[in-house]
Amino acid sequence: MARILLVICGGIAAYKALELIRRLREKGHEVPAILTEAATRFVTPLSVGALSNAPVLTDLFDLDREREIGHIRLARAADIVVVAPATADIMARMATGRADDLATAALLATGAPILLAPAMNPHMWAHPATARNVARLVADGVRLVGPEAGEMAERGEAGIGRLAEPAAILAAIEDILAPDRRLEGRHVVVTSGPTHEAIDPVRYIANRSSGKQGHAIAAAAARAGARVTLVSGPVTIPTPPGVTLRAVESARDMLAAVEAALPADIAVMAAAVADWHVEAAAQKLKKTASGPPALTLSENPDILATISRSASRPRLVVGFAAETENVIAHARAKLARKGCDWILANDVSAGVFGEAENTVHLITADRVEDWPRLSKEDVGARLVNRIAETLAD
Ligand code: CTP
Repeated sequence: MARILLVICGGIAAYKALELIRRLREKGHEVPAILTEAATRFVTPLSVGALSNAPVLTDLFDLDREREIGHIRLARAADIVVVAPATADIMARMATGRADDLATAALLATGAPILLAPAMNPHMWAHPATARNVARLVADGVRLVGPEAGEMAERGEAGIGRLAEPAAILAAIEDILAPDRRLEGRHVVVTSGPTHEAIDPVRYIANRSSGKQGHAIAAAAARAGARVTLVSGPVTIPTPPGVTLRAVESARDMLAAVEAALPADIAVMAAAVADWHVEAAAQKLKKTASGPPALTLSENPDILATISRSASRPRLVVGFAAETENVIAHARAKLARKGCDWILANDVSAGVFGEAENTVHLITADRVEDWPRLSKEDVGARLVNRIAETLAD
């Protein structure tokens, strides 16, 4: 049981804080709360207090009450401070160290970890000022859950800005209070992103992989305490914290980097590796009167198959299978052909590349697990959980 100080800010999503309180109480946690002045226009201190059965402070209460409970004392006694929903405004004030109301004063006074669950209009979330404040707060050690993509309260608005679901906020809180370190002492190698196969010094063949899924797996493994080497083709997303990046371009570079990273306990091959490469021209190809050049393709090494059959094979090798039809049957065949232990099969006919979510099936030698549609982060967390369970057997 923990003492969780919940700071509720003003916004349409404030009502979801009530559901969060209910769930935290079910787990036996104590949930004192601070409502900003704007929050009191969306939820009442009375409804918060009725659910939490704990002190509720707002700027509207008088000094006597403050003397009785004391927001500084609440902040100091908390095991974690959770801000849900966190508005653009409170993040701006936190980023500059302001303490101009009870909420920000408590956030400044606490020594406990802080978790923010932002919720705002997608334009506000995407604004460079918000991005700057978030980066500042993350650098200060503040953790974030969400925001998620989806429909906004405002009609017709969609994008990133929705408050994370209460279950996801709960999971993030529990992860901070009792971090999962089951992969401590393990080395995990993850491949991610596309490969670029040069045609000449300025042109290349590539694919639509964003690297989101591979990076999310690397992030989850690092959070579980593993030493993680992420071998990634060119991507525009950031390297997750605590992960060592080996940046590569071509499939052949990727194989060399994976082999150099071994030995490892676990390998997860999430990269969308090009199947072929071109014998690259040393100089830029020029247009000629004889028409366009013919590109001669040669087969690339299969990194997954090579590693699965190598002398320094990791104990657990996981591959992906991007399929557009007969997903399970093709993935099963791929498992046998490539010699890996598990395959995460995804149906790419519905468009997965660059998306935030993924629907996968975990295929092992003797069974198929159908996973629900999940964010790529949750696919990463779930895979790491299955890996930790298997290694513990
Ligand atoms: N893979 C690899 N090296 C390659 C090609 C693929 O390591 N040269 C890995 C991918 O990282 C993934 C798995 O193999 O984990 C399956 O990739 P996929 O593109 O689905 O399969 P292919 O081998 O390209 O098979 P096919 O073209 O028959 O679908």
